[in-house]
Amino acid sequence: MKFPNNVRALRKERGLSKVRLSELARISDSYLSEIERGIKRLSNAYSPKIAKILEVSEGALFGDSDCQEKPGARWLTQSFTIAHADSGTFKGAGLRPFFEYRDLGIKHATQARYGAHVIRAVPGMESPGTWHSHNLDFQMVYVTKGWVVFEYEGEGEHLLREGSCVLQPSGIKHREVRHSDDMELIEIISPADFPTQDEDAP
Ligand SMILES: [Fe+2]
Repeated sequence: MKFPNNVRALRKERGLSKVRLSELARISDSYLSEIERGIKRLSNAYSPKIAKILEVSEGALFGDSDCQEKPGARWLTQSFTIAHADSGTFKGAGLRPFFEYRDLGIKHATQARYGAHVIRAVPGMESPGTWHSHNLDFQMVYVTKGWVVFEYEGEGEHLLREGSCVLQPSGIKHREVRHSDDMELIEIISPADFPTQDEDAP
């Protein structure tokens, strides 16, 4: 999958080297290089800063000149999608082996800017409870079935149950402590793919 953008062309127009732009934007030049080649998606965390440095709208960074100044220009790249429980399948081998994931099609429909899936417990399997953090722009969780206990840095342990909703700010250290065998929740994230770091207990 490619993530089209105009960063390279705009940078050259302004006579900025890759190293200089990466310094100004406080990102690594290898990350910038991958963005320019469309290998990695330009994160919402950096696009406002890069747009400001290059003196363009955020929309202009992402392509179509016709929609450069239109608010919400990036939404034009989304496609309609619909997912039904009876036609979806849960798959293992996600981020955590004790959970199974049902993709809701949002990643594909938004060119991986967003992701959403249903996560359910694999009965009989337990979380190792290791502390970690994620680097992303947005992550929220809504429990639809059963219960799950999470512990968050500075927030303590929380029992999430049917109807509970959590926004996890980017970078917050957290761990899954335990969950019921019938636990099921919806997770909505941006971007769809994001790095996870192991962390020491806070
Ligand atoms: Fe997590």
